[in-house]
Amino acid sequence: MPSISDIKSLLDDKLAPHKTLTMDDAMPTLLGKTPQQEVGKPVNRLHGDLKVSGHAKYAAEYRFDDELHGVLVCATIGKGKISQIHTEAAKKLPNVVDIVIDFDQFIRHPQQGGKKKSPSQGADTIVYHGQPVALAVAKTFEAATEAAKLVQIEYQNESNDGAFDFAKEKMGAHSMPKVPVQSQGDPEKTLQDAEVSVDKTYSTPSQSNSPMEPHATIAKWDGDNVTLYTANQMLASCKQQVADALDLKPDNVRLVSRFVGGGFGSKLGIAPELIAAAIAAKQLNAPVRVVMSRPQVMETTVRRSNTEQRIGLGAHKDGRLHTIIHDSIITNLPDQTFYEPTAEATPFLYQGDNRKVSYKMVRMNQVLAGSMRAPGEAVGQIAMECAMDELAEKLNIDPIKLRILNEPKKDPTKDIPYSSRHLVECMNVGADKFGWSQRQATPCSVRDGDWLVGMGMAAACRVNNLEKSQARASIQLSSQKALGVEAVIETDMTDIGTGSYTILAQIAADMLGLPIDHIVVNLGDTNLPPASGSGGSVGAASAGSSVYLACQKLRELIAEQAQTSSDNLAINHGTVSESNEGDNKNSGLVESIKQTVKETAKSVSSEIIDKATETAKEALNKFSSDDKEKQDQESHQNSPIDLTSPQTLRDILTHFDDNKISALGTIKPGKTQKAYRQACYGANFVEVGVHRITGEIRVRRMTGVFTAGKILNHKTATSQCYGGMVFGIGSALMEEIVHDKRTGRLCNRDLAEYHIPVNADVPQLDVTLLDEEDKYANPIHIKGIGETAISGAAAAIANAVYNATGVRVYEFPIKLEHLLDKLPEC
Ligand code: MOS
Repeated sequence: MPSISDIKSLLDDKLAPHKTLTMDDAMPTLLGKTPQQEVGKPVNRLHGDLKVSGHAKYAAEYRFDDELHGVLVCATIGKGKISQIHTEAAKKLPNVVDIVIDFDQFIRHPQQGGKKKSPSQGADTIVYHGQPVALAVAKTFEAATEAAKLVQIEYQNESNDGAFDFAKEKMGAHSMPKVPVQSQGDPEKTLQDAEVSVDKTYSTPSQSNSPMEPHATIAKWDGDNVTLYTANQMLASCKQQVADALDLKPDNVRLVSRFVGGGFGSKLGIAPELIAAAIAAKQLNAPVRVVMSRPQVMETTVRRSNTEQRIGLGAHKDGRLHTIIHDSIITNLPDQTFYEPTAEATPFLYQGDNRKVSYKMVRMNQVLAGSMRAPGEAVGQIAMECAMDELAEKLNIDPIKLRILNEPKKDPTKDIPYSSRHLVECMNVGADKFGWSQRQATPCSVRDGDWLVGMGMAAACRVNNLEKSQARASIQLSSQKALGVEAVIETDMTDIGTGSYTILAQIAADMLGLPIDHIVVNLGDTNLPPASGSGGSVGAASAGSSVYLACQKLRELIAEQAQTSSDNLAINHGTVSESNEGDNKNSGLVESIKQTVKETAKSVSSEIIDKATETAKEALNKFSSDDKEKQDQESHQNSPIDLTSPQTLRDILTHFDDNKISALGTIKPGKTQKAYRQACYGANFVEVGVHRITGEIRVRRMTGVFTAGKILNHKTATSQCYGGMVFGIGSALMEEIVHDKRTGRLCNRDLAEYHIPVNADVPQLDVTLLDEEDKYANPIHIKGIGETAISGAAAAIANAVYNATGVRVYEFPIKLEHLLDKLPEC
């Protein structure tokens, strides 16, 4: 029999309308089928004007009357323990308020993304150079900066005997108990016996996320409640981290990140400046702002691990792969569980019966290793796609043909189908657009003056995921809007420059039949329903699906009042009409009841679900008729909507309490996540010129073709691909963090010394997004586009450099010195 809680949940659903969907099956979508068609269009960013005019408020820009400035005091050794901190000189400076020290509660490095805990780390134990240990607080930023410099730290151990030299520490590379070797067949043997094989080791350096906006937090207490204006990618989990770190109840913590100037993974978890600001603000009873300097961002947040990757490929003479080996060595601080998942795409990108993926960890006293844009694939596919290029040459097969030959029908590791996969189409379309047929397979064949010209390509692949996410959608009267109504979308989702505001508005516009300027989107505040946040390319799919579901619920509420099915509603430019298709007046309602009962009675047998549905329906009917009696006394509100002729949304609202309808939507990952291999695919094509005397490398052209399910906004999605391709240029030719091997100090901790591509390094980028739908991914049929284009982009450049010069470089980034003494005499 149905439990009381089943019934209660149905009634709650009636009172606080809520549509929940667990992705257990393929789902149809309404997007693309509604009369309002904003989804897909290259709609400009909703806040573009605010951003370019400096009016969008970022974390550090909130102002409070009695605010104080905090500057982090950072360790000047790479490993050891603090014995004493001398603060007298610093405190004597004018305007200095205090030097705040709290070794128990300060965090010494950021928390990784998505974690709910942030246990005490013991900030007096130094594990890397630049670790924050105290906060200098003053009435002015200048005084705080000066005070931070005057703080003197005494260490028990100044011998600098940390793990600073990777080459030396590599001897101690060890497997991780929770990351077992994945192996099938007998790959080492089949590699050895292969008719044609490649067995090479590639190295990639540590890289810095270094988003444009530095990490910053203003902490403001009100009694036991703390509000943190901060720069963060994932608010809901970070709220839990703050509560854990400060020993507060989550309800006492509020995070606000309305605009975030990039993150690339470094803002997934809370960073030391946030906790320091919160502790100082509490102690000093005033709001405290802590903004990291660029060197601090680079030294005390996150880096991408350096890697050494061995790729072994074994093939038959005709090019069919039978062996794929991917062994990786990565690094991180002692005790950290995060490891760069270099082989994320290796298990399913190409076919082959004998396979192995393994990881070994090297513990280093260096900047925390964590997620950086496309953690895993971004550097894993450099190795894989360079090895594929080398194999193609050995086989005397075109690199695209080799990949097509090894296109699997199913995930070859898990033996499950792909949810959608159009790698071959991406390569073929890209080849056409780029003019791949002009490529000379023999290196050093093309000259343009003093430039050796070469072409290269690489496949792109990035896993697709879905995270639990919730949003609220409302329609209410508005005198400001032409149609007299507006829709409000609320969730604690963030927009880190990706366009979340814009795509969520597009989804709501189509679902609710309103122009985009009638949609108000409120994001970036933990007072709003908890979302996935921006990370792992899940944001658009997860937050987008929750908005879709909340809007679907609003459609159901309207349909219910009009005694029709929500499938029969057509809403266009604020006018609702009933389409004639289908006359099952209650199908939408019954469907929604069924769904709710399914959700609440998940583990119960189908027989009980049916019984529960029946009982619940009776309960609902009774509730509705009770409701009706009350309604009858209340005039127009709650009266049925007559859709024999079209009604405006404005008129429709008058049928509801307070002239407003509101609903929650929640998406949860389900069985389709495991039952289908979900990933985005694409291909990058590059033409480079290498100067025959100086070895200078210029990227001359770059074409990328990608698929990511339905594309919500062609402009923001294309921009994501531009960004990924530019990261590819940086990763191939420039980006490299250098730690001092003697002290662990970061040598290049600013954007003058840490090289990233500038405009002059980036040619015109040509991006094409192919049409695709993925009904297994989520109810909006999209996949996460954010991290696909970067995946392997650097390999396309390296392969082009080889094609131009005949020099294969296995050590990234590729520099002049790798080429200079090897350039051909031509
Ligand atoms: Mo992304 S590296 O998950 O922000």
